[in-house]
Formats: sequence, structure tokens, C-alpha cells
Amino acid sequence: MDLVFIGYGTIAHIIGAELKTQHMAEIKIVGVLDPVITEDQTRELFAENISVYKDIDQVIERKPDLVIEAANTEVAKKYTPFLLSKGINVMSMSVGAYLDPKVMKEIRNEATGRLYLSSGALPCVDAVKAASVRGINLVQLTTRKRPLALVGAPGLSDLDVELDKIKEPCVVFEGNAIEAVKAFPANVNIAATLSLAGVGPLRTNVKIIADPSVTRNIHTILVEGDFGKLESTIECMPSENPKTSLIAALSAIALLKDLISPVKIGS
Ligand SMILES: NC(=O)c1ccc[n+]([C@@H]2O[C@H](COP(=O)([O-])OP(=O)(O)OC[C@H]3O[C@@H](n4cnc5c(N)ncnc54)[C@H](O)[C@@H]3O)[C@@H](O)[C@H]2O)c1
Repeated sequence: MDLVFIGYGTIAHIIGAELKTQHMAEIKIVGVLDPVITEDQTRELFAENISVYKDIDQVIERKPDLVIEAANTEVAKKYTPFLLSKGINVMSMSVGAYLDPKVMKEIRNEATGRLYLSSGALPCVDAVKAASVRGINLVQLTTRKRPLALVGAPGLSDLDVELDKIKEPCVVFEGNAIEAVKAFPANVNIAATLSLAGVGPLRTNVKIIADPSVTRNIHTILVEGDFGKLESTIECMPSENPKTSLIAALSAIALLKDLISPVKIGS
């Protein structure tokens, strides 16, 4: 399987390294598109037979089996529908992009490729999907992160909060998933995935807590419905990017394994 990365940052590097250590020879990275690739990086990539593309047309022309978007929400909105309309499969990490109804409409109307959204840091995504087949009454996500992980979020500008001065846990956001993704786009992909797997963004409640006592990104989901009740907490080690949990990249590897395996586990 020929693979191209759009966005060659933390997640792409973890995936690249993991493909080597897991000896997943069926998957070959053939190119990357990222505007901030240095000359040194370009040389290293060329040495591994990996092309550095300047624009999306070069990616389309290469026609890889899969593109992994690991850049940001705006890039995902711009390129995913386009790539899918050209019959190219996309695994997209910036899941918040798909809460935009215009993006989803374009994908539904024009895609001939398939879009894969990995579970990221969301625990029990299969159970949420199964539960949503019948009625769900309540979906709540509570995310607890160290204040550093929230730096730069647009949602902080309206609050009277200085992240480096927080001494006690402090609720910095409460609302639905649409509002959460706007206010904390780099932090709450998990809210977007939970919405898409469950009952949609308007009925998915999100609370974000800046907590100086935690070192991990902690997410608790609570779902209640006809199936019963699901409560699950995951404590995620951050990656080199404090906003991104290591397991987000590992979940992309797990999905890649599913794509090349004759056996698929889970719903
Ligand atoms: N699905 C999940 O559970 C989950 C979890 C964590 C992070 N994410 C998301 O995955 C994405 C990548 O995360 P990361 O930690 O690797 O980020 P990162 O900041 O380490 O890397 C992003 C890369 O994208 C590149 N980029 C920026 N604009 C670009 C453009 N126009 N075209 C191509 N590349 C461009 C940047 O130069 C950078 O190298 C983010 O959107 C993040 O929110 C998803």
C-alpha cells in the first residue's frame, strides 16, 4: 500500500517510526506534503525514496492507495473532500473538520474514495457505535489536561484565565461538541469522534478542565441509552506535541493494520 502524508509533524513521525518497528513492509511511505519541510529533512526523505510534494496536485498525480492527513482542521477541510472526489482513500486525524456540514455534504455527494477516521484517544468507540443503533439519552465527555496542553486555543481568549497561573483544576469549557471543536480545535478531536460515532455534535456534551496536577491527557466518557450505561476513562501519555496523545498515532497504526489484514476485529 503506497502512503502519502499531508502534514509531517508529530503524528506522521510516530506513524513512520512505528511502521518500521512493527515491520509493516506492506505499507510504503512514498511522499509527504508539508510546507515547513527543511532542506535537511528533504535530503533524508529522498534517501529513503520518499518524495516531497509542493502541492496537492502532485499528490493526486501520484495516486497513492492512502493519504494520511495529519496537519490541522483547515487542511482537512480543504483537501479531504478533494482527494476523495478523485478516488483517493484518506485517513484523517483532524476529525473536527467533519463536524462541518458543508464538508460532509461534499464528501457524501462527490467521494469515490473512502474516508477513515481512527478512534484516536476515544475509548470504546465500537461500543458507542453499537449503542447508537438504538436510542442514546446522554453522551458526556470530560477532558482533563495540563494547562500547557491548552495553550493557543481560541476559546481561551474570552476567559479571564492565565494558564501558567492556574493552581487548582479549572473548567475552561462547557458546551456541545460543535462549540468545543471551535474553541479548542487542536484538543478535542475526541469530542468530534465521539459525536460522529454516537448521536451527533449537538447532543454530545463536553467539559474541558485545565488541571495542573495531571501529567496525562485524561478523557472520561459517559453514555446512557437503551443498551444500558457505558463509563470509561483513558489516561493518555502525551506525545512530543503536548496537545496530541501518543495513542492517537497508535490508533492510526491499528487502523492501518486492519486495512491490510484479512481479519477485522471490532464492529
Ligand atoms: N484523531 C485524534 O484523536 C487526534 C489526536 C491528536 C491530534 N489529532 C490531530 O492530528 C493533527 C496532527 O497532529 P500533530 O500532533 O501531528 O500536529 P503537529 O503540529 O505536530 O504537525 C502538524 C504538521 O502539519 C503541517 N502543516 C500545516 N499546514 C499544512 C498544510 N497546509 N499542508 C500540509 N501540512 C501542513 C505542519 O507544518 C506540521 O508539520 C492535528 O489536527 C491534531 O489536532 C487528532
